[in-house]
Parts: sequence; structure tokens; C-alpha cells
Amino acid sequence: MKNELGMGGRLPAAVAIIVPLLLVGCDKPEEVSSHSQPVPSSVFDPMALEIIDANLIKGREIWVRTCAQCHIRGLGGAPIIADKADWAPRILQGKEVLYDHAINGFVGPQLNEMPAKGGFLDLTDEEVKLAVDFVVFASE
Ligand code: HEC
Repeated sequence: MKNELGMGGRLPAAVAIIVPLLLVGCDKPEEVSSHSQPVPSSVFDPMALEIIDANLIKGREIWVRTCAQCHIRGLGGAPIIADKADWAPRILQGKEVLYDHAINGFVGPQLNEMPAKGGFLDLTDEEVKLAVDFVVFASE
């Protein structure tokens, strides 16, 4: 009996810590799938960017879900997001070219392949454009 009372005294503090964590987790069900690929903290964190624009927020969601698997670390020669040196010449081509290469696919000079829609063919063209807008925003 005494022991149980002792525990009870600590319980509220534990609940106060755990409950907010659970609530934060519930806000982002779409991120659950990305847990299979843990990202070291030194890597670009898209969620750390403060974004107000609703379209950019949508673009970020799409990017995290699909494009990130190659573009967060440069898999297969993919330009790494927020790497300005890598993105500057690409951004100079203009958004229409980037949209075209992201939607229809593109093979670069080193024969690295950007697959059409990153291989996520269920994405609409509009969704791919929003993801490109997010990459450009994060990388210029
Ligand atoms: C399977 C890996 C992979 C995925 C997934 C992927 N990409 Fe790429 N992407 C690449 C590679 C590799 C390149 C570099 C090609 C080159 O320039 O050599 C690239 C290049 C690009 C470029 C630059 C094109 C240019 O003209 O320089 C854009 C824009 C781009 N990707 C957007 C996206 C978007 C948006 C998504 C998500 C919808 C995505 N990528 C998903 C591999 C990927």
C-alpha cells in the first residue's frame, strides 16, 4: 500500500511529459512511413524551416514523402536539398525546365537518372510542381 502511494506521487509528472509527446505525434500521421529511414541530425531537416505559405507546406509534405529518399543525401547522384552549389546552376535553368525534368524524368551529364515523378507515378503534375517549388525555396 505504501509503495503504491509513493508511485502515485510521481505519476502526474510523468504524464505531464508523455501526454504532450503523444499529442505531437498524432498531428503528423503522414510522417510515420519515413521512420523506416532514420535521418541523422546533421542532415537537412525540412521540418525546421519556418514556412507560412500553404502551397510550400504542401510541397514539403510531398517532398518528405517521396523525393527525400534520394534528395536528402544525394542517392544516385541526386542534388542534395539546400546544397546551394549543387542547386544554383539547376535553378538558373528556370522553373519550367525543373518542372519538366521532375515530371517527365531526366538523365544528367553523368548519366544519373531522375526518374519521372521520382518513381511515384501516382503523384499529379501539380503535386510534383509543389515539391519542386519547395526544393527551390529550400535551396536558393
Ligand atoms: C530514385 C531517386 C530520386 C527520387 C525519388 C527523386 N529524384 Fe530528383 N533527381 C534524382 C537524380 C539522380 C537527379 C540528378 C540527375 C542529374 O542531373 O544528373 C535528380 C534531379 C532532380 C532535379 C534537377 C533536374 C535538373 O534539371 O537539374 C529536380 C528538380 C528533381 N530531381 C526533383 C525531384 C522531385 C520533385 C522529386 C519528388 C517528386 C524527386 N526529384 C525524386 C533522383 C531522384
